[in-house]
Amino acid sequence: MKIITTPDPRLREKSTKVGVIDDEVLKIIEKMRKLSLDWEKDHPHELSAAMAAPQMGVLKRIIIVRDDMEDKSKAEFTALINPEVIKTDGKIETDFEGCLSVPFVYGKVPRASKVKIKALLEDGTEVRVKADGQLARILQHEIDHLNGILFIDHIRDKKDAFYKMDDNGDLIPVDYEKEILGNTELWGDE
Ligand code: NI
Repeated sequence: MKIITTPDPRLREKSTKVGVIDDEVLKIIEKMRKLSLDWEKDHPHELSAAMAAPQMGVLKRIIIVRDDMEDKSKAEFTALINPEVIKTDGKIETDFEGCLSVPFVYGKVPRASKVKIKALLEDGTEVRVKADGQLARILQHEIDHLNGILFIDHIRDKKDAFYKMDDNGDLIPVDYEKEILGNTELWGDE
């Protein structure tokens, strides 16, 4: 298994709920942790904050989220199974997002600043999580993946919204029409 990227059609499908948390599910989670860290080794300026199972072609409602978003040496992720947004709140804030499955591209994405979700942990415990700031953004982004939605779908005004990372890790603006829309490597011929 590997991380799949646009325009792979599996990224556009709705994933199914996990019924029983069995060995197969736990193996999927371990594979997700491994792939996230492998990706990070190839991306020195970036931290792999989270990932959803459909990003490796497994259409199940599982996400993993990094416990410490600041320190790359800490490599623990919490898995959330069947995560559901119960409520979004606060105001709409716009900030940068990238995605392991949308290579090279970053965008400014509007999201609710607060979110409340429920999910199951690996041991089957039901948890409710209230998040704001970066974690609220990440949870919305990952749960979107389970419904076949990518961050680019939320960007209505395509002008001045897209960026690329240069070799120093700085984000530089790119022209949407030319470099994003016209890039069949990213979006296919649709
Ligand atoms: Ni993503």
